Parts: sequence; C-alpha cells; structure tokens
Amino acid sequence: MKNEVIVLMLICGLCKSQYLAPGNCPRPEVVKNLDLNKFLGKWYEVQKTYTFFERNLRCVNAEYDNVGNGKIILTRIGMDKDGVSKSIGGRAIVAKLSEPAKMVIEFETSPSIPVNYWILDTDYNRYAVVWSCFNMGPFGFFHSEKLWILSREKYLTVDLLGAIYKNLSKKGIDWSSLRNINQLDCGISKENDVAPNI
Ligand SMILES: *[C@@H]1O[C@H](CO)[C@@H](O)[C@H](O)[C@H]1NC(C)=O
Repeated sequence: MKNEVIVLMLICGLCKSQYLAPGNCPRPEVVKNLDLNKFLGKWYEVQKTYTFFERNLRCVNAEYDNVGNGKIILTRIGMDKDGVSKSIGGRAIVAKLSEPAKMVIEFETSPSIPVNYWILDTDYNRYAVVWSCFNMGPFGFFHSEKLWILSREKYLTVDLLGAIYKNLSKKGIDWSSLRNINQLDCGISKENDVAPNI
C-alpha cells in the first residue's frame, strides 16, 4: 500500500511539480506571534492542493480546539461523492512556543506520519493559509508540499483570494494547483449557501 502511494505520488509529481519537487522542504515565512486562541474554532476549507486521501470530498471544514500546552485537536469533516459524511481527527503540536505558527500535525490515517503544518498567513476572522511539507526519498531528494486556504465563511471574495495569492508568491510558494472545494452542495440550510461571484 505504501509503495503504491509513493509510485502514485511519483507519477503525479511528473504531471504536476507541486506534489514532488527536488530538494528539501523550503522554509517560508510564517505568521509572526500567531495568537493561537484567536486562530481556534471552525474553518471551512475553500481551496486546497490535490490530496490523494481527500479526493472527491466536498463541504470540508475543520474545528480546532486547544487542549493546552501548545496542543491542538483538529477534527476535519467532509462529505464524499455519495453524500456520506467522512471525518478524520488529527493532533497538532506547537513544537516551539516561541514560534506558534509552526505546528507539527499527525492525522489518524495509517501510516500516520507527523508533518509540519505551518500557518503562513491569517487575519483570524476571515482567512488563513496553511502549508505543509515533508521530505521524501532516501537522501532528501524530493519534497512534497500542500496548501490549504481556510475561511470563516464558505467562500472568499476574488479580491481577498488575489491578495492571498500575491502574498504567497512573495513567500515563494507555488499556489497554481489550488482547487476549489465545493462548499455549496452540503445538504443543509441551502438558502444560506449563496456564493458571490467567485
Ligand atoms: C499581505 O501582506 C501584507 C504585507 O505583509 C499584509 O499587510 C496583508 O494583510 C496581507 N494580505 C493578505 C490578504 O494576505
């Protein structure tokens, strides 16, 4: 199973360099003095780079709860193509309290590999940008990056997204393979699910 995933990532790496890039993980600038308590709560995932394990999931949102000592419990819920709810739990730990935006996360999947989970940008009440990266290959030949755009609402405006992309480019992060996550067809309170022109 592990080998299959790696082969798949290699193939994907050939078609989209985002998933597999040469060298070790870069170290982009993160939010300075992240206020963890302001960051907690519910976030909708409005865009993200392709993730094999979450393919076809829509209506993905995540709840971040602080359990003290720089530990955060994360519950991510989504819906598969048949409308069945899927949830996955994770545990994030702030490795160094002086750099709270640099977390390490471990999901309940197997094999569970702790990966870094860095908050690159946020204003706490509208959007957040989360970036993750892990080194692959025996000699750090490759790394794989992932990116999520989180929102307190089910959508973000074009203007805000544009500003987010601009800042990502400045940090040297490739955001070109971000894809929208469907947050509209979620089966509840449809009358509120009106997206502006995005
Ligand atoms: C982009 O970066 C600027 C300068 O650091 C910052 O003031 C602004 O809040 C950021 N905007 C967005 C949407 O990320």
